[in-house]
Amino acid sequence: MSDVSPDNLDPNALPQLGAELSAAVAAAADLNALEAIRIAALGKSGSISALLKSLGAMSPDERRERGPQINGLRDQVQAAIAERRAVLEAEALDAQLANERLDLSLPAPTRRRGGLHPTLRVMDEMIAIFAEMGFAVAEGPDIEDDFHNFTALNFPPKHPAREMHDTFFFAPDENGERKVLRTHTSPVQVRTMMSQAPPIRIIAPGRTYRCDSDQTHTPMFHQMEGLVIDRTVNMGHLKWTLDTFMSRFFETEGVTTRFRPHHFPFTEPSAEMDVRCDRSGGEIKIGQGEDWLEVVGCGMVHPNVLRNCGLDPEEWQGFAFGFGVDRLGMLKYGAPDLRDMFASDVRWLKHYGFSPFTPLSPLNPG
Ligand code: PHE
Repeated sequence: MSDVSPDNLDPNALPQLGAELSAAVAAAADLNALEAIRIAALGKSGSISALLKSLGAMSPDERRERGPQINGLRDQVQAAIAERRAVLEAEALDAQLANERLDLSLPAPTRRRGGLHPTLRVMDEMIAIFAEMGFAVAEGPDIEDDFHNFTALNFPPKHPAREMHDTFFFAPDENGERKVLRTHTSPVQVRTMMSQAPPIRIIAPGRTYRCDSDQTHTPMFHQMEGLVIDRTVNMGHLKWTLDTFMSRFFETEGVTTRFRPHHFPFTEPSAEMDVRCDRSGGEIKIGQGEDWLEVVGCGMVHPNVLRNCGLDPEEWQGFAFGFGVDRLGMLKYGAPDLRDMFASDVRWLKHYGFSPFTPLSPLNPG
């Protein structure tokens, strides 16, 4: 590079330095090379910086002449570097994009590793059926307080469901309040009625917990709550909804159900619906047999619950239901023991699991 120092101010030296730096900038192959040139010219001890510093020692006349020349050179080199940087940055981005390109048309590996748990599959099927009937999906927390899980739902203070053998309680907090793992999805009824104005038509799928374990009970299981609040809703609507759901879900006329009077603190009247099945020989089959499996509890929302949620029972009424989702899955897909559903046995999961790509049958007949 030309020897242009403050002591050697050949009139041709500046234009020559300018030309050389411009050529070097234009030839910089990448951003690192460009940065090296910038530092050599404009950095603390760069050639142009040295010239700028020399202005201070010049006589006013000299400075008047050399100042604009040196500043002009600096501006010219700065502009050239900025221009080249923009080009190199664009090139670097193009190269990165070309490098990271994914061919989305490549065939996916055919060996399926993961799959949908039958409970998730059943939930998807249920949501699809209820969505067609105009239900929206609502949710609530797994860890509930006593108010939402029990009190607002009209459980008397000494109700057995509050006792240790049924409910998983947390240790009391500083106010002495014991949170619970929700024992049912019914607290979502309360949360919904307290947060939105009727008419209401929701389902609430989720995990529920009870201290219980046998062939048809597991400490963690899944429920799907349903709640309809309107001005003239009656028990007939409830029964029609459940019957229609059952025939859509099982896709067969061969399902026999029975509607039995029951008691829940939060509905009046209350009922349970069972599905007829055969549980002999370590298998579960629907459409035959003399056994009954309870799959849904239901009833008309109790006036006290409406009141607890700020609704006037003279104006609003409604029905609610709560399905045992895993049990519906056992019946539909023939798994004989509920405990196996959550044992995480890979062989079981492979046998009963679903590909996420299998269309939902109720929506895709044939
Ligand atoms: N929560 C009840 C249960 O867990 C089911 C239910 C829901 C009953 C809604 C009536 C209305 O057994």
